[in-house]
Amino acid sequence: MQLRLVTLATVLLAAGAAHAAPMTLNGDRPVIVSHRGASGYLPEETIQAYQLAMSMGADYIEGDVYLTADKVAVMLHDGTLNATTNVVAYAATHPEIAALRSANGTYDVTKFTLAQLKELSGTCRVAAGYCTDRTYFNPNTSYTLATYGEFLDLAYNNYLTTGTQVGVFPEAKQSGLAVAEAILAGLNDPKYNGYFTTMGNALTQSFDATQVSYLNANSDVPVSYLGVCPTTDTAARSIAAIADGIGPSRGQVTAACAGAAHRAGLTVIPYTYTNDPAQYVTAYNQGVDGVFTNYPDLAGTVRDQVFPPAPTPVPEPSSLALMGMGLLGLVGLRRRKR
Ligand code: G3P
Repeated sequence: MQLRLVTLATVLLAAGAAHAAPMTLNGDRPVIVSHRGASGYLPEETIQAYQLAMSMGADYIEGDVYLTADKVAVMLHDGTLNATTNVVAYAATHPEIAALRSANGTYDVTKFTLAQLKELSGTCRVAAGYCTDRTYFNPNTSYTLATYGEFLDLAYNNYLTTGTQVGVFPEAKQSGLAVAEAILAGLNDPKYNGYFTTMGNALTQSFDATQVSYLNANSDVPVSYLGVCPTTDTAARSIAAIADGIGPSRGQVTAACAGAAHRAGLTVIPYTYTNDPAQYVTAYNQGVDGVFTNYPDLAGTVRDQVFPPAPTPVPEPSSLALMGMGLLGLVGLRRRKR
């Protein structure tokens, strides 16, 4: 942690003074999208990773959607369970799960019922940027794989209990339109009272142009087209015909592409940012509208340095005078009651 603070201070010093104003499409500070939950700390796409992301100040929790064998929408990035769950070890003592193994040794999400999936626990992906920081990791905890409904419930219930509006950013990861339909059906569920629709607390995304077009045509929830970064205004306008934003890779995005996207009215939220503070300084200087990050706390710390939050408003003199008069009135009232 000490090393990270020193690194952060060095990076910010090199970056120079804070900007006068963000260069985002709407002029607000870039949003922080917690990629597969706080996946830099905890097993990705688990209830605990999403909860940690919200507690770290993420503006959105992000996750990928598949349909199980019994057609329940669930949150998983890979089409197979091998890299992010304990399925291999579990199957060793559960023949009915072992029977689901494909000839090539993979356990495919779409062969599992929800009940079978819920027997498993999320585990840390062995890859840079995932569970790299073990501060919050407990080896004795079972990490809970989430349904899409539970993912939505987390954000909505967090709002009901804290008043803080954290959005959701589901990605249609399985091919075909059924998963896109399931994503929109969840966002439109009346039990959320418009939290994800009329209150604006959701974005959707896909790498697939057909899915992007479907999400765009069937919902007012903004949709991001992943993996593209237009180099010309013409290209940006053609993307704007089917999407509201783009999600280029971190290496793909440039200030020029962000500018072309903005001129076409597209937001720019690239993926994926890791535990290197310099990556965020670069992104914020490119004018991005948000970042997909495995480390929402770090993204927020750098954002506060580059774009300091607006100070809390202090009462104006006239408001103070009114408050004073109100207090005097209350004192008088209490005296009369005695
Ligand atoms: O969802 C945005 C970005 O994360 C795309 O990458 O592979 O995590 O879906 P992936």
